[in-house]
Amino acid sequence: MYEIPMQKIAPSILSADGSRLGEEIAAVEAAGADLIHVDVMDGHFVPNLTLGPGLVKSLRKITRLPFDVHLMVESPERFIDEFAKAGADLITIHAEATVHLHRAVTMVRERGIRAGVSLNPATPLFQIEPILPYIDLLLIMTVNPGFGGQKLIEGSLHRIRQAKEMIHILSPEAELEVDGGVTLQNIRSIADAGADILVGGASVFGSEDYTATIGQMKALLAAPPTVSA
Ligand code: DX5
Ligand code: ZN
Repeated sequence: MYEIPMQKIAPSILSADGSRLGEEIAAVEAAGADLIHVDVMDGHFVPNLTLGPGLVKSLRKITRLPFDVHLMVESPERFIDEFAKAGADLITIHAEATVHLHRAVTMVRERGIRAGVSLNPATPLFQIEPILPYIDLLLIMTVNPGFGGQKLIEGSLHRIRQAKEMIHILSPEAELEVDGGVTLQNIRSIADAGADILVGGASVFGSEDYTATIGQMKALLAAPPTVSA
């Protein structure tokens, strides 16, 4: 029997065909995506540039799926209002990008939007401890942010397990999202380590058939655990 997995799939439009963004979003929605992951880059916090709130506002009309906005920008508090008005459902900011993390998280929540905090691969997990009780989601980067299609950094599974333990103790309602290098080969181990939301850029948009790919991801997540002898 096929069971619906608990985990959610969030295709990252960073790897979509930018000339057909609306169609690409509609296609992954039809293919079974649970959220749309929107990577916002400012050319300072990360060495790349992407999109702003204007485009998010236009895309809001295309889909009913929640927009999971991942802000990879310096001083993200400058942009919270605009993305809130544009229709973001979840706004994630980087702990490394602001000295006023609690203020920024509060700003997001005050606008009735779920607040996430993200950590780069080399940021110690303990840094998240004081903010965990105030957030709805922790996003663990498993590549250095800036580009799609990179390989998951070794040791990430251990870090995901540790992050899950911290969430369990300090913020049991919060979700754990994993972003970077998620593939059909590693998605199940990432979920078993504790991820609730799995971002897929190249693995989804780089594939021929989105329905088949997302279907395979969900089947892998729903499959019973393999018992090793
Ligand atoms: C990286 C972004 C990711 C990226 C993931 O800076 O935050 O969301 O799109 O892409 P893949 O899944 O291809 O690693
Ligand atoms: Zn992202």
